[in-house]
Formats: sequence, structure tokens, C-alpha cells
Amino acid sequence: MFAVDGLLPAIRTRRAGRAFRPDPVPAGLQELLWEAAALAPSHGNTQPTRVLVAASEPARQRLIAALNPGNQHWAAAAPLLFALAADPAHDVTIDTPGHSPRELYPLHVGIALGFLMLQAEAVGLTAHPMAAFDEAAASAAFEAPPGVRILAVVACGFPGDPGGLPADLAAKEASPRDRLPREHRVGIDRWSAALSVSARALRKRGP
Ligand SMILES: Cc1cc2nc3c(=O)[nH]c(=O)nc-3n(C[C@H](O)[C@H](O)[C@H](O)COP(=O)(O)O)c2cc1C
Repeated sequence: MFAVDGLLPAIRTRRAGRAFRPDPVPAGLQELLWEAAALAPSHGNTQPTRVLVAASEPARQRLIAALNPGNQHWAAAAPLLFALAADPAHDVTIDTPGHSPRELYPLHVGIALGFLMLQAEAVGLTAHPMAAFDEAAASAAFEAPPGVRILAVVACGFPGDPGGLPADLAAKEASPRDRLPREHRVGIDRWSAALSVSARALRKRGP
């Protein structure tokens, strides 16, 4: 029997936190994260997502060096760092007349990331994804072969004390959820003008 609001309690409480306790993430919990990613669906069951764990100190340092400075600042303190990658050649491209081809591997890796983040939340971990990194450096950090795309780096650990973060980042931790109002997200029967408003544009307009 499912609760009436299903998975929403875990989805509501998940945040991309930046404060971590130094305690390591037990190997058993790490395996549950990898399993959650593996169970994500993919078109044709292509399963393109690969998890690259920076387990050794040298690998960890190489991955940290690949992050943008703004991410290095806080992510270096996460006890677990890993990347999600895919070889586009493992996946399917959909050709639709009148449109550019649709590469499915970023969608598939994104679904796997979503599953993984929710599993992290369910076992009391924070999993903070990052796109701001030097892909060539991240690729070299793991000696990934040419063609493999590194799509996200994730900083993971048990949530720590935000008081230990610089003031600007600590403020972000305490900020309320910022999401588009429903009319800007859901269209019934047809595209509406409200759907064309970006979150950035709406933020600029202010409350
Ligand atoms: C694909 C992806 C890339 C992201 N890249 C970064 C990043 O490079 N640095 C960062 O601090 N946060 C990054 N984030 C976290 C977002 O800023 C965060 O999810 C968003 O502000 C919403 O906040 P919430 O996850 O706490 O609800 C990323 C999130 C996603 C899904």
C-alpha cells in the first residue's frame, strides 16, 4: 500500500546541500546508490550510465582539480566524490523529420542521477550534482577513453553543519525552495504563454 503522496516526502526534503560531515560513506550505502542508478529505465534498455568513483586519494585530488573553483570551495570536503558518464556510442539517437537528432544518453544519465539522488536522500545522505567542471580534466582524472562524456560530478556524504560554510553558501543552505509556479510548468491541452517564461526571467522580475 502506497502512502497517498507517494515518494514526494523524499523528493521534498532532498536538497543540493553543500555541508558534509567528514565520516566516510559506508561501502554498503555506496552500493545502494549504484544500484539505484542501474535500475533507471532507458530507451531500448541501453543502460548507458557509468559511475566513476574517485576512491583513492590521487583520483580524488585529480577530480577536485577538475571542478570549477566555486565548486572546489565546498565539494572538496565531501567524503565521497564520483562522476556519471556515458559513451554516446552505447546509446540510441532518434531521428525525427524536421528536427535535429535526439541524443538519448544525457536523458538516460539524468534519470539515473535522479534515482541515485533520491536513494541518497532515503538513506540520510546528501548527493549534490555538479555540471561546472572541466570535462577534459575530469575525463583525464579517470583515464576515460576518447568519446566518453562525463556529464556530472557528484559530491556526497552525510549532511553537515552549514555553520562551517562561508556565509554566502550557508545562506543558500537555509534558503526556501525556489520553484516555478504551476502555470509556468504545466500546460493542459496546449502550450501556453506562461510556459515560455524561463525560471531566470521570472527571478529577474522578482516577487
Ligand atoms: C545537472 C545539475 C548540475 C548542477 N551543477 C551544479 C554546480 O556545478 N554547482 C553547484 O553548486 N550546484 C549545482 N547544481 C545544484 C543546483 O544548483 C540545485 O539543484 C538547484 O539550485 C536547486 O536546488 P535544490 O537541489 O536544493 O532543490 C546542479 C544541479 C544539477 C541537477
